[in-house]
Parts: sequence; C-alpha cells; structure tokens
Amino acid sequence: MAEFVRIHEVGPRDGLQNEPGVIAVADKVALIDLLSTSGLRDIEVGSFVSPKWVPQMADTDRVLAGLHAVDGVRYAVLVPNMRGWDGFVAARVPGVTYEVAVFISASEGFSRSNLNCSIAESVARLVPVVRAAQAAGVGVRGYISCVTDCPFDGPVRPGAVARAAQMLWDVAPMQLSLGDTIGKGTPQTVARMLRAVCDVAPATALAGHFHDTGGQALANIATALDLGLRAFDSAVGGLGGCPYAPGAPGNVATEAVLEMLHGLGFETGVDLDVIGQAAEMARGMR
Ligand code: HMG
Ligand code: MG
Repeated sequence: MAEFVRIHEVGPRDGLQNEPGVIAVADKVALIDLLSTSGLRDIEVGSFVSPKWVPQMADTDRVLAGLHAVDGVRYAVLVPNMRGWDGFVAARVPGVTYEVAVFISASEGFSRSNLNCSIAESVARLVPVVRAAQAAGVGVRGYISCVTDCPFDGPVRPGAVARAAQMLWDVAPMQLSLGDTIGKGTPQTVARMLRAVCDVAPATALAGHFHDTGGQALANIATALDLGLRAFDSAVGGLGGCPYAPGAPGNVATEAVLEMLHGLGFETGVDLDVIGQAAEMARGMR
C-alpha cells in the first residue's frame, strides 16, 4: 500500500494574509468551499490576530460563519493569545472540526517583528491558549518560524530550532510545523535542522512549511521525506508570504507538491484537478 502524506493547505491564511487588496469574504469562502471538496483534510482558513497587524485576516469570524464545512475536513485558525482564543470561541460554529495553531519563532528578531515580544514571552502567552483548547477538545498545532534563516538575525542554528521545538513540546505534544519563512533553506540546512529537531519530537510529529523564494521548496520537501516527515504545508497557486518577514514569498504551491508526491508513489487523497481549479480561482483574487 502506498504511504500517506498529509497536506495542510495554508492558502486561505498564509496565502491571503499578505495580499494588499481587499478580498471579499464571499471570495474567501468560495475558495475554501472548493478546497473542501478536493479531499484535503486540513485547511487553514484565517487568524484571530490583531486586525491592526494583519488587516487581511480581520474578517476571519465571518469566514468561519460563511464556509460550508465538510465532514472529515479540519479547519485551522491562528491564535496567538487569549484575546484570539476568545475571538475564535465567539466565531466557531457548532459541529465543525477546528484546530488552533499557535506560533513562535526560532529567532528573536522575527519574534519581535511578528509578535512584538521575545520567544519566551510568546510561549508564555500561548500556554493558556493550548490549555483552553485541550479543555474544549480542540486540536492544536504549533508553528516554528525561521527554522533555517531569519530576515533580521541571519542564519539560525539547528540548536535554536530544537530549543524552540522543546518549548512547544513541553507545553503539550502537538504537530510542529517547521517554517522556512523566507525560503532560504537548502536541502543541507534543512537536513541539519531536522536532525536536531528529531531529538525533541519524532519525525511523524513534524510538518514541513516551505516558502519558495529560493526555488528550493520541493528539494527541501524531498529531503524531509527522506528523514521521515509525512506532513507538509502548501498554498494553492503558490499564494503567500508573511507581512512581518521582508522577502517572504509564496508558500510552495499545493499543486506542485501533489505532482511530486504522487510521482514518487505517495498517496495524499487530494484530487489534483480540483486543486487546479482552486489555484485558478486563487490567482483571480490577486
Ligand atoms: P501587541 O500590539 O504587542 O499586543 O501585539 P497588545 O496586547 O498590546 O494589543 C494591542 C492591540 O491589539 C489591543 O487593541 C489589543 O486588544 C489587540 P487596542 O487596545 O490597541 O485597540 N489585540 C488583538 N485583537 C484581536 N485579536 C487578537 C489580539 N491581541 C491583541 N488576538 C499581537 C501582539 C500578538 C496581537 C500582534 O503582534 C499580532 O497580532 N501578531 C500577529 C502577526 C501575524 O499574524 N503574522 C502572520 C502569521 S505568522 C506567519 O505567517 C508564519 C507562518 O506561516 C510560519 C512561517 O512561514 O514561518 C505561521
Ligand atoms: Mg508561512
């Protein structure tokens, strides 16, 4: 039997958060609804962050209200603090499966830029979010940004990423998504980083989150597959970027990742034709 690789679609969140123009809630919902029919099991649909920091995600409550949830799909939202958790609780729709994503950085420079606090402070803020999610039976994933390079601090040591992973893992075992935020990682730096993180958490608990600035994202995914990872984040149509990481381009495109994985004989359960239609829809929104 073919081995399964789980794709976490981040286009509606990581993709659209960086778009300069206003995107109507109805357009976001149409994209998410189409993606929901593709066989994807994880779709990240928005963020409960400060609307002053990321205006494009300020309508996430309306997106949750508008989307037509499909059984078997888990809808993820970013939540940095209890204020965000309260926003999520007020907006969630009964009967829908959600996941909240907490996020930290492996580098202090990006932590300041993205969350306005140190790494340690960001962990302290997310602890009550994780506890609230656990009490409510909501799944949690943890992002670590700048796992090979930081736009402010330069190259990031594997040991710093392992320390960040340990901080999240000590809060609770959760899927750790390792973000090459500015797409500077190479198979060599990614492999060194993954070996360090695998001392903290098993490869099966890790996900690769590669932005594609350097055109190395697919090579980095291949490296991560060799080291045992079976979960990857991607954005339909290669949408994306982080507004607080200068130079962060699009995420690796979901359609490219699927082509590669299917070509290597992995199963994803995702229909490439539907993803192709969604990619076209996403491009039309820009
Ligand atoms: P702050 O300014 O230090 O926070 O921001 P504060 O506590 O002083 O609050 C300032 C104001 O924001 C207050 O409002 C709060 O009520 C409000 P005011 O009194 O001025 O009217 N506020 C909130 N409003 C709504 N929802 C909230 C919330 N929290 C505070 N949750 C804060 C700290 C964390 C809020 C801010 O830095 C922030 O929102 N950052 C988020 C940045 C972000 O979303 N970045 C993109 C996602 S991360 C990413 O893309 C990387 C990833 O893809 C992986 C990778 O590629 O590496 C995941
Ligand atoms: Mg990202």
